[in-house]
Amino acid sequence: MENVAQDAPAPHTAGLPGGKNVAVELDDGIAWVRLNRPEKRNAMSVGLAEEMNQIFDALEIDDRCGVIVLTGVGTAFSAGMDLKDFFRATDGLSDVERQRAYRSTRAWQWRTLMNYPKPTIAMVNGWCFGGAFTPLICCDLAIADQDAVFGLSEINWGIIPAGVVSKAISTVMGDRQALYYVMTGEQFNGTKAVELGLVNEAVPADRLEQRTTQLARNLLGKNPTVLRQARAAYKYVREMNWEQAAEYLTAKADQTHFIDPEKGRAKGLQQFLDEKSFRPGLGNYARE
Ligand code: COA
Repeated sequence: MENVAQDAPAPHTAGLPGGKNVAVELDDGIAWVRLNRPEKRNAMSVGLAEEMNQIFDALEIDDRCGVIVLTGVGTAFSAGMDLKDFFRATDGLSDVERQRAYRSTRAWQWRTLMNYPKPTIAMVNGWCFGGAFTPLICCDLAIADQDAVFGLSEINWGIIPAGVVSKAISTVMGDRQALYYVMTGEQFNGTKAVELGLVNEAVPADRLEQRTTQLARNLLGKNPTVLRQARAAYKYVREMNWEQAAEYLTAKADQTHFIDPEKGRAKGLQQFLDEKSFRPGLGNYARE
């Protein structure tokens, strides 16, 4: 079947790249970034990767975007790497050309997403297979349709979970569970994905967007500098020992205090200790 999504211009916001394989919509601080190849179940091609790289680059410095939601148009979050436009199409290339294609995919799926300066939420709205686990895991948070279907299907068609899928799953799933799905290729649903640590929550399909928006709004209410620093600090300390982590976190906390234009720490202390106008355990300090 012809992929009509490739031909029809997708809805996207003026001034932002994309429009062919990815649709971007900005709504009150939230950038909805949608894989937009529904006829191909949002399988990820090299062209899609190139668009994603441009979009993430643009959103990074776009003040209209405070939080990114990554999701898919239609019945799929993503059916993984495109077997035709990624695997077969790169089979005949020279190694140098193949590495170029791989680089585009690696860039957005994990190098960019993992350390992106704005918070990211994956909203898993349907099929989620193979390579799709990488951007899913590299988003900070994830909410799934409880009936979404997940699977490490690589074994079913004769490859190993490569790209960086095996590494990505090892950061959120236990070894027994990860190997079970790597080796069997069995499917599981959104509710099971919560149990496995792949997503934070699973909700009925008709509440998916509402719950994701609510979570995004919560994040938009935080001091963005402190939020960025907190996410980065957490991700970096995972690779450090305790002594290194303590040193690094002390320095990161001082840096946060220094660079925060909002001077959140001082406000928080003042509003709790002096003005007694809020309780940090129960909510945010008042931001102007
Ligand atoms: N790569 C390339 N094309 C894909 C694709 C993929 N990963 N996933 C789906 N498509 C294409 C199909 O080839 C089909 O194209 P066509 O209309 O030109 O024939 C179209 O998308 C619809 O797919 P179809 O299988 O008919 O949809 P479905 O809703 O019945 O099933 C899936 C959906 C996701 C279960 C099924 O498409 C599938 O198993 N896809 C592969 C998933 C996978 O193993 N991904 C891992 C890659 S590492």
